[in-house]
Amino acid sequence: MSDDSVKPLEIPRTSRLSGFYREPMERRRSRLVEARWLTALEARELEGLGGFDEACADAMVENVIGLHGLPLGVALNFVVDGQARLVPMAVEEPSIIAAASYAARLCAEGGGFTVSADAPITTAQVQLLDVPRLEAAMDTLRKEAPALLDRADALMPAMCQRGGGARELEVRVLDATTLVVHLHVDTRDAMGANLVNGLAEALAPWLGALTGARVGLKILTNLADRRKVRVCARVPLAALASEGFTDGEQVLEGILAAQRFAELDVYRAVTHNKGVMNGVDAVLVACGNDWRAVEAGAHAYAARSGRYQPLTSWWREPDGALGGALEMPLATSTVGGAARTHAGVRRALKLAGTSRAVELAGLAAAAGLATNLAALKALSTEGIQRGHMSLHARRVAVEAGARGELVDIVSERLSREHVYRPERARELLDGELAPLMGEQG
Ligand code: MEV
Repeated sequence: MSDDSVKPLEIPRTSRLSGFYREPMERRRSRLVEARWLTALEARELEGLGGFDEACADAMVENVIGLHGLPLGVALNFVVDGQARLVPMAVEEPSIIAAASYAARLCAEGGGFTVSADAPITTAQVQLLDVPRLEAAMDTLRKEAPALLDRADALMPAMCQRGGGARELEVRVLDATTLVVHLHVDTRDAMGANLVNGLAEALAPWLGALTGARVGLKILTNLADRRKVRVCARVPLAALASEGFTDGEQVLEGILAAQRFAELDVYRAVTHNKGVMNGVDAVLVACGNDWRAVEAGAHAYAARSGRYQPLTSWWREPDGALGGALEMPLATSTVGGAARTHAGVRRALKLAGTSRAVELAGLAAAAGLATNLAALKALSTEGIQRGHMSLHARRVAVEAGARGELVDIVSERLSREHVYRPERARELLDGELAPLMGEQG
């Protein structure tokens, strides 16, 4: 048999790129090429604004007067459903990408993140006011539901061809004369806001005629609770041990106490959830998704019991490991909108390794669980400031001109002295560290 019939073995990509954060940006990009996350051309296109220009911006929103950039980074060490993943994140706050990468490494020790997601259902609401006979109107709507769903499908042939379409008509009573009709639509890889808003507007006159009601608002709901994602992870006890807290058990207890704090106190729960959204939003922004919609839905979902609660939960597994999960509504999109008009968004989706909205939701949720874990672990051990300040010290060292291993040396000195001024970094580089500067040419 000839060797031609043997396919080359596909070597899985890794999201573990050691020392990545220490490299200069140019080298980070070439490492992504070496690790087969990007082609050489895509890596080059990341330079500057990555192909985003005034013409694109002008076509996206109104009254454009310029462009506004954000750093784009990748969180490392993610393993999601058994596959290595890079997580693109665009965010202005320092430490978030480092925190996500760190916690993803802990979770990878326990096998990584496991995701399950609902079908991508987006829901339109039609408000029916002054309904003359509530019960009769509800009966009529229930009877007419199949015909209404058919009519909705007829309005979106392309979506139906892609496997989406109208799935259910639900009627809810709001008060003695007001109903609201929910039209649940599978919008596949689209967020589907424009689609369902259009459907609601098109079907509303018929709903009004069937019920004798006056039609009110016709708009999607951002409480996308038919479009939830669940992600869970476990961290072996040994992986939790950290400097000064050699005992993983102590760290686990601290994380469980932090979880309990958020369950008991709304002031803490909001901050806890902000830590979750640090990860979720950064992925959504990088991938050009509507993060305001997800934010609104997330907080309403957190308060669904009548009491605002943490979106994540953490517990002790029977084998002693730390277990954690996040469940939240997460409507994402990988088509249309910015994915069509913004080259950087397309590249971020490529880095995320997906063209499927539900997979993107899973990745964003994994990032949210990771940033929450990193925050709880830091807060319940050494506190959040130490990590923040050591990253800050690195930035100050680089700003003062340190490169390579000098960045480590200078930032360690700044941290030890608790002085984070560029002048001090420059003093060190021009003084006692000058010989090392010379070596680096
Ligand atoms: C800061 O951006 C996020 C945290 O406040 C989250 C938390 O307290 O859990 C650190």
